[in-house]
Amino acid sequence: MLTADQLDGSSAQVVAQPSHNYKIASIPADGIGPEVVSAAIEVVKKLSETMKTFTIDFEHIPWGTAYYKKTGKYVDDDVLERLKTYDAALFGSVGAPDVPDHISLWGLLLAIRGPLQLYANVRPVRVFPGTSARLRDCNAEDIDWVLVRENAEGEYSGHGGRSHRGQLWEVATEVAIFTRVGVERIMRFAFETAQSRPRKLLTVVTKSNSMRNGMVLWDEVALAVSKDYPDVKWDKMLVDAMTVRMVNQPKSLDVVVGTNLHMDILSDLAAALAGSLGVAPSSNLDPTRKNPSLFEPVHGSAFDITGKGVANPVATIWSAAEMMGWLGESEARLRLLKAVENVCGAGILTADLGGKANTKEVTQAICAELEKLASK
Ligand code: NAI
Ligand code: MG
Repeated sequence: MLTADQLDGSSAQVVAQPSHNYKIASIPADGIGPEVVSAAIEVVKKLSETMKTFTIDFEHIPWGTAYYKKTGKYVDDDVLERLKTYDAALFGSVGAPDVPDHISLWGLLLAIRGPLQLYANVRPVRVFPGTSARLRDCNAEDIDWVLVRENAEGEYSGHGGRSHRGQLWEVATEVAIFTRVGVERIMRFAFETAQSRPRKLLTVVTKSNSMRNGMVLWDEVALAVSKDYPDVKWDKMLVDAMTVRMVNQPKSLDVVVGTNLHMDILSDLAAALAGSLGVAPSSNLDPTRKNPSLFEPVHGSAFDITGKGVANPVATIWSAAEMMGWLGESEARLRLLKAVENVCGAGILTADLGGKANTKEVTQAICAELEKLASK
């Protein structure tokens, strides 16, 4: 196993010291991205105004498909240096109907996550009050998970190629890269996350029966790292069996860690089980805090509802709440989550959750709730 020095200190999460004065990059990008990001900005500004404990500025960055069509690039060449001047970034969604998804995704999001070493993608999953879980015999409180996705390597390393294009014997390879350093740091992050929660449970997802190299390394590293967290109870699941466990035994899960591809898929399933993609948030974290982290909804551009003003802003607002928590403003995080819970609990819901409210109505209701909470 690597020592902490060899890992360049990246084995442990660094705790934020709040600065109370934040500069955030706003990258709404495509589809419903601009609609949900502006909703989140409105709400966070209201949070700052009503709490009076911090100030926050959002700077708009126009990267996305329109920018690509104008300039030939999804982001500027100095993307990494530029982002490093901010405390964090709030992102919407990338993807447009007339650009192949692998161009847009690699052009923007994957050009940031890997190079900035935002190696931990954290996706909390809960059933919000007022919404119902999709499972039979499942109470809202039975689903309270944190999914941890390896976010900088694995199946999405971009390693591979194509040759003999168009021939019958054309070859395409997509090589999954698993480095010891990459697996160990995400495993430590997952054990620490489990340790910080009341139940202290961790499930490590792999496919180490049929994938006998990288996935076996995951198993070995999990076992080695587990020795440093004796108070965390952990188990292993193969990814296919994991889908069944999520549906049949949701209560048995707490924190779950897995590879980039496996958790991409499982987190969409989790979002559906909890109610809707419209409420699923995510954080792309650099736990060493050398680089700013990026916060975004799990969902994509949602072409079918773009421009209609009906997108559910909760996933992005919840992501913004996680951003405040990551910056060290844990009270602001809790206040914002409380406001969202109260609004959902009061039945002010968008259509994806069976409600009749539009984006603006939900946003305004959350702002009004923040005013109410501040005057209590
Ligand atoms: P999607 O998440 O955009 O939409 C799936 C379904 O969920 C649609 O019916 C949509 O209307 C609904 N939905 C999503 N977010 C919603 C919200 N906030 N409120 C209400 N309903 C919501 O996934 P899809 O259709 O597979 O992808 C569309 C585009 O988005 C593609 O170009 C894809 O590559 C891109 N994408 C980008 C992601 C990102 O930027 N992180 C993630 C997923 C997809
Ligand atoms: Mg996905």
